[in-house]
Amino acid sequence: MGDILDLKGRNALVTGAGQGVGRQVALQFAAHNAGVVVVNDFYAERAQAVAAEVQALGARAIAAPCDVTDYDAVQRMFTDISAQIGAIDLLVNNAGNAGPTQSPAESKPFWETGPQEWSNWMGTNFYGVLNCCRAATPGMMARKYGRIITVISDAGRVGEPHLAVYSGAKAGAAGFMRALAKAVGRGQITANCVALAGVNTPGVADLMPDAEHIKQMLKAYVIRRFGEPDDAANMILFLASDAASWITAQTYPVNGGYSVSS
Ligand SMILES: NC(=O)c1ccc[n+]([C@@H]2O[C@H](COP(=O)([O-])OP(=O)(O)OC[C@H]3O[C@@H](n4cnc5c(N)ncnc54)[C@H](O)[C@@H]3O)[C@@H](O)[C@H]2O)c1
Repeated sequence: MGDILDLKGRNALVTGAGQGVGRQVALQFAAHNAGVVVVNDFYAERAQAVAAEVQALGARAIAAPCDVTDYDAVQRMFTDISAQIGAIDLLVNNAGNAGPTQSPAESKPFWETGPQEWSNWMGTNFYGVLNCCRAATPGMMARKYGRIITVISDAGRVGEPHLAVYSGAKAGAAGFMRALAKAVGRGQITANCVALAGVNTPGVADLMPDAEHIKQMLKAYVIRRFGEPDDAANMILFLASDAASWITAQTYPVNGGYSVSS
């Protein structure tokens, strides 16, 4: 039997892939026979470093730095990429957390915040998803093939009191993905979300300051460890593969049992 996770030479674009979960997705896709892996990140040097790692695996990669919150920049990125390699078949909306320039640990109680802070969270976690889906879907509809996977958070399912706007942005992204899935289904495009709980990545290192803090946090997990980028990337790879062609409009938790649902 062949590899059910074989990506069959399809081109992929992963946002925020310069570190953490997105980097691991880029490497996993490369290891499973993706075509060109487009490594997006706000920071050009991160995108280039991960593109080099993908190439070191013997796969093709392009670094595509751009801020996903910027509609015009995202349009330009997709136009440039499609001129070089053709269309994107697999889109992973992974850029998230507090956006590119602040730490989630800087978040304040909701009642002390205003529109500037809100737009940081909404920009990357909600508008970034709209911008990339807007750019990717016409080509997918034309070719009648596509996989869109958006990384959300258990915060968007259960609500995190200290991350209220982030929770709302992620829940909004999931609601949008359900509707988009219904809109693009006739194009044989699937659209799903993966909801993560705490995963060891550079972006959330500030939230896990010391051993005592980590011990307290882990009490909420059935499997008493934080996730690793591979835990997330494995599910994203599955949803990107043809093995998942009958799965759409869903949110899959990958969370060590942090939240449970029927
Ligand atoms: N790590 C966790 O504990 C955790 C938990 C739940 C959900 N998530 C979600 O998983 C995804 C990946 O998280 P991570 O912890 O691996 O991320 P991270 O913060 O470690 O890295 C994210 C990368 O995305 C880039 N980025 C951020 N905003 C961008 C923008 N506007 N345009 C382009 N690039 C941008 C950053 O430069 C960074 O390199 C995010 O959507 C996050 O919200 C993470």
